[in-house]
Amino acid sequence: MPGLAVVGAQWGDEGKGKIVDYLAAQADMVVRYAGGNNAGHTVVAGGRTVKLHLVPSGILYPGVTCVIGNGVVIDPEVLVEELDALEQQGMPAEKLRISNRAHLLMPYHRDLDRLEEEARGSRRLGTTGRGVGPAYVDKAAREGVRLADLADEAWLRERLAAVVPRKSELLRKMYGHPGYTVDEMFDYCLRFRSRLVPLLVDAGEVVGEALERGQRILFEGAQGTMLDLDHGTYPYVTSSTATAGGVLPGTGVGPGSVSNVLGVVKAYTTRVGMGPFPTELSGEQGEWLRQRGGEFGTTTGRPRRCGWLDLVQLRYAVRINGIRQLALTKLDVLSGLERVRMAVAYEIGGRRLDRMPASLSELAQVQPVYEELPGWSEPLASARALSELPEAARRFIGRLEELLGIPVVYVSVGPGREQTIAVDGIAW
Ligand code: IMP
Repeated sequence: MPGLAVVGAQWGDEGKGKIVDYLAAQADMVVRYAGGNNAGHTVVAGGRTVKLHLVPSGILYPGVTCVIGNGVVIDPEVLVEELDALEQQGMPAEKLRISNRAHLLMPYHRDLDRLEEEARGSRRLGTTGRGVGPAYVDKAAREGVRLADLADEAWLRERLAAVVPRKSELLRKMYGHPGYTVDEMFDYCLRFRSRLVPLLVDAGEVVGEALERGQRILFEGAQGTMLDLDHGTYPYVTSSTATAGGVLPGTGVGPGSVSNVLGVVKAYTTRVGMGPFPTELSGEQGEWLRQRGGEFGTTTGRPRRCGWLDLVQLRYAVRINGIRQLALTKLDVLSGLERVRMAVAYEIGGRRLDRMPASLSELAQVQPVYEELPGWSEPLASARALSELPEAARRFIGRLEELLGIPVVYVSVGPGREQTIAVDGIAW
């Protein structure tokens, strides 16, 4: 069954949106399986820039069916805004399908995200403040409202009566927020009914049947491996499964549905929010990368923390996700550096460490052991083949492949679709 999962191999913002958009040309269906509008994809195609938070990147191809799986939490305001914006740009999302089992992100989730972060003070996590964490908390606590509930007024009211008074009490007692009435939330939900209910499907069935027909399915990951709830740098993570394993519970398909995993790796590392980051460059070099790479969040506009590539972290990501091929992005950003570095190991208390420690206090103390490679001065933006890259850039790619033991099949040298070097094809 030709199911390709595309995942972020670092802390998110690796450029998955561009790679998914590029590969969607070969796909029949693109499926989002995790996260919410904490994610942000910028896709540049035909001179147009489209920012997407919930709608899968494949939406730009009229022939591709896009599915938002049950693993995604959906802020209906954001989704409807995104659909309106796409329509205004002449790209109606006719081929969008939404899982009826996906959970709604409610206004009180947004309030709680903000108020909880404020209450954490200096121990804040640095969330995107979109309510995503609290929405997943409610899902696990069995206090969520699902999209299917929108279709049945009596049941919707019943669900809201079960959860809204308790949420409001929490907001009032803990944070002095006035909270919401059941009626308010009922009217709120109904606002989206006519727009969203026609798009609802049993997504597991839709995707499963497409796989059985031999269609090519692209599972689009959100965030990155190190933000995964289980395998990331907990607690500085998001509240969903950002790794390839999330495809199954987040879509409703079986383990045989993922035939290949493509890891997207940026030529350097970035992260937003708090938490340890061993190869972080503070000061001038970090600022240089931030400016050169335009490293400001798509969702929040926050400056991203920047640093060198980290092979300890990437080896971990390759294993956790079962990554078999790589897409290397933003290689063009490194042009102009005399020397480039990649961390090949960590050191802590005079001891060498080749693995990602689970302990965050340990991760905060490790010192990267760097390998230095010659840099290159030539701009790469117009390169369309590996042979058009300077020798030093090719060496950088070769070393990455050697250290990870898997091939780089795409190299991205700019935001445009055409700025993608296909070194090899993707194995679906
Ligand atoms: P939340 O997902 O808003 O709860 O934020 C939790 C952590 O994940 C914070 O460090 C965020 O900055 C980070 N995060 C969430 N979504 C993204 C993303 O799409 N790119 C990068 N970081 C993200």
